[in-house]
Amino acid sequence: MSDNVPNPKKHYHLFDDDNLDHLYFDISKDGEIDANKYSLYNFTGDPKLEYAEWESRMDMMNSWFTDMKSQNRFLYERESINGSKVISKVVDPKTGEIREMLNFASNDYLNLTQDPRIWEKVKELSPEYGGGAGGVPLLSGSMTIIKQLARKIADMKGMESAIVYSSGYGANYGTISGLLGHKDVAIYDMFAHASLIDGSRGSNKKFFQHNDPVSLEKVLKANQNNYINKLVVVDGVYSMDGDIVKLNEILDIAHYYGAWVLVDEAHATGVIGKTGLGTLEHFGLEGKVDIITGTLSKAVGSIGGYVAASERLINYLKYTSRSYMFSTSPYIPSVVASLEALNLITEQKANKDKLWENINYVKKRLTKAGFNIGNAETAIFPIIIGDDNKVKEMTFRLHEKNIFVNPVPYPAVPRKLTRVRMTVTAGFNLEQLKYTLDEIERIGVEMEIISPVKANAV
Ligand SMILES: Cc1ncc(COP(=O)(O)O)c(C=O)c1O
Repeated sequence: MSDNVPNPKKHYHLFDDDNLDHLYFDISKDGEIDANKYSLYNFTGDPKLEYAEWESRMDMMNSWFTDMKSQNRFLYERESINGSKVISKVVDPKTGEIREMLNFASNDYLNLTQDPRIWEKVKELSPEYGGGAGGVPLLSGSMTIIKQLARKIADMKGMESAIVYSSGYGANYGTISGLLGHKDVAIYDMFAHASLIDGSRGSNKKFFQHNDPVSLEKVLKANQNNYINKLVVVDGVYSMDGDIVKLNEILDIAHYYGAWVLVDEAHATGVIGKTGLGTLEHFGLEGKVDIITGTLSKAVGSIGGYVAASERLINYLKYTSRSYMFSTSPYIPSVVASLEALNLITEQKANKDKLWENINYVKKRLTKAGFNIGNAETAIFPIIIGDDNKVKEMTFRLHEKNIFVNPVPYPAVPRKLTRVRMTVTAGFNLEQLKYTLDEIERIGVEMEIISPVKANAV
C-alpha cells in the first residue's frame, strides 16, 4: 500500500450522530473486520453499539466472524456426532471430515453422560412417565420422580428442602432475582458465573476481588447500612479457574455483617468432598450456608438445575422465582438420569478416584513444564497466556493434533488472564494423557509460552 492511500477501514453508521462518531474498524486482506484486532466485546458489549441499527450490529459481528474463520481463529461450535465421549467424533469445520478428538473440553468430569447403568434406568423408568412433564411445577408438572430428585439433592447438600429447574442457569437466575428487591444487594466474587450475576440485573450488585475475604469485608463494611438484605454470592469451584472458594473465611465475614451466603455447586458436586458431595463436605461446613444452587449438567452428566435451602425459603422461592414458576418442569428422562447419577455418586463414588488420579497427573505435568495454571486445584485447568492471539493459536494447534480444548479470550476473562481452558475427566487412560501433555508442552515451547522443557515424562 502506498503512503498516501489511507488504511482501508469498515465503518458503520450510528444513529446518534450528535454525540458519537461512526464506528471504524481496521480490515484484513479479505476486506472483513480484522479478527486479530477486535474481541467479542466490540460487537456485544461496547456501549456505542446501542446507537447502531440491528442490521449494522449483525453485519459488524458477522464480518468479524468471517475473518476469524478465514484465519482458522473461529474455534467455537465444534460439532460432535457421538455426544460427549472421551474420544469425541468431531466434524472438521473446513473439510467436513470426522476427526476423533480427545475431549478435554467437556464438564462431564465423571463421564456419566455415557454410563450404561444410567441408560438402563432411563429405559426402565421413562416409559412410565414419558418425555416432557407437560406443565409448570405449580400446576400439572409436579411429578413424583422430580420430588424424589429434589429430596436426594437436599439430603446430599444437608439442607431441609430443594426444588429442581430445567437448567442451572434458570436456577441461579431465578433464585437471585426471586429473592432480591430494589432495596437489597448481591455481593459477588468477581469471577462468579454469569447466570448468578444476571440474577441481579434488576437490582443492586457489588463485586469483591476474586476469592479475597479481605476485599469482601471492605465491600460489606462500606455497604453495611445501605441495603435491607445482603447476599454474598460465590462459586464452590470456579468455572474458569478450577480453584475452590475460601468458604470458612467468607462465611464468617458475611454472617458477621448480617449477609446471607449463596454457593453455586456446579463444578463441585461429584468432584470435591470426601464422598463427592461438594464444597460443604470438602470443608465440613454442612448446614452452615444459607443457599446452595447447582446444575445437573456437569459431573452429574444430565441437564437441569437446583436450589437447596430451608423449607421456608424453598416455599418462598416456589412463588417468587419466575424461571421456576413460569417454566415447564424438567424433561423426565433427564430427571431419571440425574437421580441415578446422584445415586452412583453417593453410593459408589462413581468414577471419582480415577478422576483424581487423572487430575493429579495433569497438574503435575503442567506445573513441572512451567505453565501458569493459577490456583487450579480441581478438574479445570486454565493455561493462562494473557494474549488473545496466542490463546487462539495454541487452541488451533491443539485441535490440529486432535486435542479438543476451549479458548477463553477477553472479555470472558480479564485481558491479562486470557487462557486455554482444559478439563480433565475420569475416562482418560495414561497413554492418552501422556500424548496430550507431550503435545501441550511441545506447542508451549514452540510458541514461547514456556521455556524448553527438560523432562517431560513423569
Ligand atoms: C458455575 C456455573 N453455574 C451455573 C452454570 C449453568 O448451568 P447449566 O449449564 O445447567 O445451565 C454453569 C454452566 O456453564 C456454571 O459453570
